[in-house]
Formats: sequence, structure tokens, C-alpha cells
Amino acid sequence: MTDFSDNILQWFEKHGRHDLPWQKNPTPYRVWISEIMLQQTQVATVIPYFQRFMERFPTVDKLASANTDQVLHLWTGLGYYARARNLHKTAQCVVNDYEGKFPRSIEGLESLPGIGRSTAGAIAALSMNIHAPILDGNVKRVLTRFHAIPGWSEQSAVKNELWGIAEKHTPKKEVAAYTQAIMDLGATVCTRSSPLCKQCPLHKKCSAFNTDSIEQFPGKKPKKQMPVKSVVMFIFQNELGEIYLEKRPPQGIWGSLYSFPEQTKESPENENFSTSSFSTSDNKQSLEPLRHTFSHYHLDIEPQLVAVKKNTNVIAESERWLWYPLDHSLEVGLAAPVKKLLSNLSANSVSI
Ligand code: ADE
Repeated sequence: MTDFSDNILQWFEKHGRHDLPWQKNPTPYRVWISEIMLQQTQVATVIPYFQRFMERFPTVDKLASANTDQVLHLWTGLGYYARARNLHKTAQCVVNDYEGKFPRSIEGLESLPGIGRSTAGAIAALSMNIHAPILDGNVKRVLTRFHAIPGWSEQSAVKNELWGIAEKHTPKKEVAAYTQAIMDLGATVCTRSSPLCKQCPLHKKCSAFNTDSIEQFPGKKPKKQMPVKSVVMFIFQNELGEIYLEKRPPQGIWGSLYSFPEQTKESPENENFSTSSFSTSDNKQSLEPLRHTFSHYHLDIEPQLVAVKKNTNVIAESERWLWYPLDHSLEVGLAAPVKKLLSNLSANSVSI
């Protein structure tokens, strides 16, 4: 045991988090779901999603046999929906190719959809006690500060160096506790801004602390301006107050989620649905525009509420579209701004 892991483990016993729902009965299935949900998402946000998910899909078999809409429904609001689609694929892979048991090696875990090296390490360490390093955002912050490593952690030279250090610090014994401990330290003490260095069990040997240069680590990503795209979203409302939603193609943003028909400057003709199928009246209303920010661009949405007749030449209810009631939710996945627009409509009883 090195001083580094020893200090962190001692700190963890007293100050770490011991009551997170995925720490109870930490099976590979539960740990995997929690790790995927926790990517890019705060613990406090994840907890209710994790609990609902476990109630609905208590085993990998239950998840594998669900349909994609049910899985996306429980994911609505968590964002980064590729995670939910990969989750479903991985469940099917574990059931079909591994007899329902998660592989017990980093390579095996990493071969599953949506599981990268750090997530594979976390599943192996937390649920199987396998000696495996992790390198998520929290751990990168702790290590770049402790060793004063310059540069942006996604540059391959920096990343390789960090993996080497992460491996060196990971103890052979108590690997599960150590893994949770270093994540907790990053999340609660070695925080992005205003870190609590005096309370940190590593501060005496922390290079950044000792040279008064904490703010310089981790190094920032070189900045680039995010492009802005604009889209008009048509909120077709029928005489019963229901809203017309289309299922998006499985690829691309919001894949397989339900959304409004839309029109962009680049593609004025909507490919999924011809808006001319509705006999629209002149009854149109522009709603408050909103901006949705993806990791690589901003999307400016101009919502247009349009009154239509339900009995149009839209022939039959299909897998590709539906009428969404505003007074209760349906079990389908909704893109975040769609959910927001629908709840604004129902909260304000807007109708046309
Ligand atoms: N972030 C990623 N994994 C986590 C875990 N197991 N506990 C708390 N935060 C985390």
C-alpha cells in the first residue's frame, strides 16, 4: 500500500460516501447502470433515476427484454441518450453472448457498447474487486493536481501519463473502497472550484497545493466557438388538445426519441413527415424561443403552435408518430426541450 492510497482510504472511512443506492448490493448490473448514469451527471440527479430504473428493470434479463421506448422513457431528462440505447444493447449482448453474466475482465467489459476503459475499471473494481484503475473526471482532477501535470487531459500524451499514474496508485487490496474513495475525494474535496485543500488527506504532498497553483490544474481544453443552428418546431395541436409527435430516426441527435416535426434553413422540407398532411388553419402562434445546448453546438428553437384537425389524411396510428395527451405522460422517450415545451403547454393550459 502506498502513502497515497493509504491516506485516501483512511479519509474515506470517515468522510467518504457510504449510503449511495448503488453501494448497497453492488452487483455488476447495478454498478454498471449507476456508472453509465453518473457519466456527465451529478449524483443528486442520478439517485431517483437509478431507483426508478431498478424498480422497473431489476435484472439484466428484464432490461434486455424491454423495448427501447420503455428504456428511453425512464431516461427522459438525463440527456446523452446514446447512453440509454447502448445500455439496452449491452443488456442484450450480456444475455445472448455471456449467458446473462457480465464478463470478468477489463477487455471483456470494454468490448460492450457504451463501456469505455474507465467505466470498465469502475465496474471491475467496485463490483468484482478486480485490481483495475479508473480515470474519470474526478480522478483526473485529483491526479493532475497532486502531480502538477500540465496540459489538457484529453490530449493523448497527457492521458497516457495519467493512466500510468492511476495504475500505479491503485492498491492491490481494498480496490473497491479505494475506487469509491478517490471518486468521492474528487467530488467533495478536490472540487473544480474552491477545493477544500486543508481537509484533503493528500495536501501535504500535493504539488499544486505546495506551489500555490491549484487553479492551473487540470489544464483547460483549448476554447473553440460553438456553432449555432436554428430550427422551427411545429407543435400541431388537435381539437382534443393533443399534440402530434414523431419518432426520430435511430441515428443522429435524439435518436428514437419523440419530437415535434421541424424545419431548418438547411432542410426546409421535413423528411419524416409532410406538414401538408394537416389541414392547418391560420390559427398559429409563435411561442417563446428556447436554446438547447449540445456538447458541440447550440440549437435555437422557435416553437410554433398550430391548430389542426385530428381527422386529416394522416391515415393510421403508427410506430412512427402519436398524439400526445397533455394531462398525463405516455411511456415514450422525449427529447429534453420537447418535454419542457409540453410541460409549459400543460402548465399554462395553452391551447389554440
Ligand atoms: N461518479 C462516477 N461513479 C461514481 C460513484 N460510484 N459514486 C459517486 N460518484 C460517481
